[in-house]
Amino acid sequence: MTDFTLNGSGVSVEADPDTPLLWILRERMGLTGTKFGCGIGACGACTVHLDGQAVPSCSIPLSVAEGAEVTTIEGLSEGGLHPVQEAWIEIDVPQCGYCQTGQIMATAAMLAQVPEPTDEDIDSYLAGNICRCGVYPRIRAAAKRAAE
Ligand code: FES
Repeated sequence: MTDFTLNGSGVSVEADPDTPLLWILRERMGLTGTKFGCGIGACGACTVHLDGQAVPSCSIPLSVAEGAEVTTIEGLSEGGLHPVQEAWIEIDVPQCGYCQTGQIMATAAMLAQVPEPTDEDIDSYLAGNICRCGVYPRIRAAAKRAAE
């Protein structure tokens, strides 16, 4: 049994501790806002927060979540849209949209550590989040809008 906090509530999960956290979130918890892209920690589509850090949930075994606080895109907007989500809407960031959960989660984690990010900060913090549509200029603009 693995116990952790998921979007503010305590959960207990009976599963192989080596199961990727992504599958627990999507298949067991029904939290499908977190996306599967590459499955090898290379694209960032599956980004969630683990104790406030942006991590690729496809590459995090369930056992690592023991005792931790896990936040998904669904949890980010509990109690109203997060400033990053509001900025994303204002700037109209997505093109196809598939990577956007990960981009938003990574940006939210960055702003918690770097409240006024430069372009270089944004590129560095989001280096693990790939967008095949190439909307990086809008991602940078939205990250700065969210920081205002
Ligand atoms: Fe996890 Fe690509 S699906 S990094």
